Amino acid sequence: MKEKPTTFFEAGMYHNQMEHAPVQLSVTGRIPDWLSGNFVRNGPGMMVLPEQPLKHWFDGMAALHGFSIRQGKVEYSCRFLECASYATARADGKLTYSEFATDPCKSIFKKVQSYVIPSPPNMTDNAKVNVAKIGERYMALGETPMMIEFDPKTLETYGMQELIPDGFAYKTTAHPHFEGDTAFNLVVKFGMFSFYRIHDVLQPKKAISSVFVKNPAYLHGFGMSKKYFIIAAGPLTAVPLELLFWKRPFIENHTWNPREGAKIYVIEKSTGKLKAKFETEAFFSFHHVNAWEEGEELVMDINAYDDANIIQKYYLKELERPDVELPFGTIRRYRMNLRTRKVNAEIRSSACIELPRIDYERYNTDAAYRHVYGVSLHPDHRQGFYNSLVRINPETGENLYWYENGCHPGEPYFIPSPDSKNDKDGIVLSIVLDTIRNCSFLLVLDAQNFQELARAEAPEPIIYGFHSGFFSA
Ligand SMILES: [Fe+2]
Repeated sequence: MKEKPTTFFEAGMYHNQMEHAPVQLSVTGRIPDWLSGNFVRNGPGMMVLPEQPLKHWFDGMAALHGFSIRQGKVEYSCRFLECASYATARADGKLTYSEFATDPCKSIFKKVQSYVIPSPPNMTDNAKVNVAKIGERYMALGETPMMIEFDPKTLETYGMQELIPDGFAYKTTAHPHFEGDTAFNLVVKFGMFSFYRIHDVLQPKKAISSVFVKNPAYLHGFGMSKKYFIIAAGPLTAVPLELLFWKRPFIENHTWNPREGAKIYVIEKSTGKLKAKFETEAFFSFHHVNAWEEGEELVMDINAYDDANIIQKYYLKELERPDVELPFGTIRRYRMNLRTRKVNAEIRSSACIELPRIDYERYNTDAAYRHVYGVSLHPDHRQGFYNSLVRINPETGENLYWYENGCHPGEPYFIPSPDSKNDKDGIVLSIVLDTIRNCSFLLVLDAQNFQELARAEAPEPIIYGFHSGFFSA
């Protein structure tokens, strides 16, 4: 272990993860006996390719980190997702498939050719963003319509399911919504005519809804209430024909057009028809938080920014700077009156938040939800990468923080206790990178008071990743 503090960038962003067979971790404190299952987190695991630099945090090859928790003990393992993008990157030391902000190197001939004829890239199957149980199978999810099945206990990759064959002109989200056994997702179709579509994930050939759009926005998620799907499209948009010629990496085909404002499409779930379209001031968002109906109003809580500068700040050349200043995402509440067509927006808490999670299984689409968990920048330490966890009550604006000097906690995942009475009656799991001790640990917090119950130390620093899931054993 290093004597001197390392940087967040070295330990948490820019290195290649070691794969690990299951190893027992030493636990400090006490993990509740009732907690039993596999906590799996997805995210970039290979960030350094010898033949080609990656440009963005969202470009790395996916690795799964598994924490198997039983009777107060924790076993850790790590495996790369054995997809085609990873196999070729490992073999060649460079990309064969297009990632978020880095493309494969093109020959001069191909560069010239792409100015004359459409030049569709090889879309990545590097499903590095999220994990979810879809039907009876555990899937790693990314933003192309390909899911990778894995075993939540061994992290073994089983294979890829291509939802839309030859789908270079399609993008989807890594944040499906669930209703019983059904998973819904948003698919963006680019072409001469472009569409936002909602699909049943397991029946992708038939769209539930299809809404024409001239210039599609970059969308990382969508919302769902009991009656409606919600597509909140900020003005970070692409010209579809430019995408077909693909002269630059995916996200760099998008431009920020604040004068166009944001458009919020409300789609009736029962019919698939567009119920309403609201136009409001420009905003950008990765993550929806919750949505529900109240009389004539549809209420949407969303983790939003004034602009899309957060995407620029996630480029590695920015994150390399220890004093990087990340834009503050906050919880905004949009009240949309479906009769008068008026929309009202309000920031519900002053706290910075990203990677928001709620008690989804019990409280999604429910106005009674009271707590959002996320990563944050502590109000007294606003420089550098996310350095705290926050619990926000969007009703009262009350915030509660977990902060430890030199630590960078990842997405918090709430798990209700066995007799849980509300959405703070349980525990929160988060993988924390400690730059002072140059290690990572699984943190177990009491969600009621954000006090530490236990921590289990991993064998090496874990790259800061994205989203996680807990699959009960
Ligand atoms: Fe996400």
